[in-house]
Amino acid sequence: MNFNDASEIRRRDPSGMLDLIRRLPDMCAEAWRLPVEPSLPAVRPANIVALGMGGSGIGGDLLRAVLNDDASIPVVAVKDYRAPGFLGPTSLVFACSYSGNTEETLAAYDQAAGRGATCVVVTSGGDLLRAARDRGHPAVVVPKGLPPRAALAYLFIPMLAALGRAGVIPSLETEMREAVEILKGMTRRLGPDDASSPARRLAERLQGQIPVIYSSSPFLEPVAQRWKDQFNENAKTFSVWNTFPELNHNETVGWGVDETLARTIHVIILRDRAEPARLAQRVSITKDLAFRRAAGVDEIQSEGEGKLARLLSSICYGDMTSWYLALLRGVDPTPVPVIEELKKRLAEMGAV
Ligand code: PA5
Repeated sequence: MNFNDASEIRRRDPSGMLDLIRRLPDMCAEAWRLPVEPSLPAVRPANIVALGMGGSGIGGDLLRAVLNDDASIPVVAVKDYRAPGFLGPTSLVFACSYSGNTEETLAAYDQAAGRGATCVVVTSGGDLLRAARDRGHPAVVVPKGLPPRAALAYLFIPMLAALGRAGVIPSLETEMREAVEILKGMTRRLGPDDASSPARRLAERLQGQIPVIYSSSPFLEPVAQRWKDQFNENAKTFSVWNTFPELNHNETVGWGVDETLARTIHVIILRDRAEPARLAQRVSITKDLAFRRAAGVDEIQSEGEGKLARLLSSICYGDMTSWYLALLRGVDPTPVPVIEELKKRLAEMGAV
């Protein structure tokens, strides 16, 4: 694979996943400005719940990561047909589905609406938008025609912007601007125009191995999951994730695995400038006790000061690495036929 040859890249990435990854900074800036229509009424919710699956669900995990330390109310991501028992009239619910046709999200949204929660939908259309219009619920309508995972910015950032505008949280506009600037630099540095792209080098090291992604702190947990998801969907390869400190209480022991198996694992540790010193000590000890048995260990540092920059920079690195790995493996990064086939077979079995 010659990453300096634009025509070879176009041949191997015919739907242009690379361009979508490179557009992340612009999408973030645009997503921040997307309107909520009709606008969200002034609310003082008792809890915030984000419903969504897969590429449309990770936004809820990121929302929790951003708000967790400072929010005085619970922020919960739900990836299920069922709304949690506590969800009720004082809940603020974001129902996120790129297609607007994901049955789990539609079912949980119906329950949230039925319980009188304040609901906002984030979608490009489908049944979800129709239902929101019928109910008079506010909607953020995002651009159509993207693979859901490439629409991450549109599915995540409007929730933060809407919460800021409604006065539920302080505005994160300054943090957003920092994130966009950092992402602009990263997409240039990591893309194939730069022959020394560290994401490309990492993908080369990952060939023939199972990427195991560990976040050094729970803050970066959704990023570890996103790396895994992108390896699954873009590079069509198996991958798993876990987080410190939890993995020290179980998975670390699993590193007693047979030598041949251990040599198929490539560990990627996601580090963060704000990770507590105690967690850094845990990472260091665990590298010595366990990860030294792996085929390789790489560490990726988040960039920026604010939480948004640190989360999104780490995501950008993973998205780009998964793209290189797809092309190195000779697979088209965009289509996900297995997901489509599964949804088709479920539809043939009838509605939920
Ligand atoms: O990446 C994908 O295509 C999936 O993970 C989808 O996001 C998931 O199946 C949910 O679909 P939607 O995003 O349309 O709600």
